[in-house]
Amino acid sequence: MSRVLVAYFSATGATAKVAAELAEAENADCFEIRPKQPYTAEDLDYTKKDSRCNLEMADEKCRPEMDGRIDGMSGYDVVFLGFPIWWGREPSIVDTFLDAHYFVGKTIVPFCTSGVTGVEKAAEHIRSIVGTDATVEEGRRLGADAAEEDIRLWTELLGF
Ligand SMILES: Cc1cc2nc3c(=O)[nH]c(=O)nc-3n(C[C@H](O)[C@H](O)[C@H](O)COP(=O)(O)O)c2cc1C
Repeated sequence: MSRVLVAYFSATGATAKVAAELAEAENADCFEIRPKQPYTAEDLDYTKKDSRCNLEMADEKCRPEMDGRIDGMSGYDVVFLGFPIWWGREPSIVDTFLDAHYFVGKTIVPFCTSGVTGVEKAAEHIRSIVGTDATVEEGRRLGADAAEEDIRLWTELLGF
């Protein structure tokens, strides 16, 4: 049986809720990707040109510092990777997480919450970061109020 990890970043709680439900459905370990410097409401104000989130997302190479990391990554076969969509893709702190761990031979399943944007562009970007190390599945956008049943059916379909 595959060993499954749910790793997620959540700035305002929506993705955290979905991640907890997913971890329960998969009977998986759960890891929160935490930035060393937490995001304040001001940092998240995307209407301001110079806000922290806008500056970070404008630079594809930006890798904000993470607080902690996973020591036993080699023990997992499948990593569900969750995040809110920021400017159409995964937040830079998720890229820090990808760079900080070894994914050879693993399957990454991206999932996101968002206002409307799907996970496709993020999945593509994640693929460009991990290269041929890992298989990156299509993934899925889950509404912040995704029903447990919906999550259960999706994970059953994936079959991990
Ligand atoms: C900086 C920033 C950029 C965002 N960009 C998008 C976007 O491009 N498309 C979208 O549908 N939602 C966008 N959103 C909305 C978030 O994806 C959405 O509120 C998400 O569910 C928040 O998840 P969280 O509570 O786990 O942080 C953005 C939010 C922020 C703070």
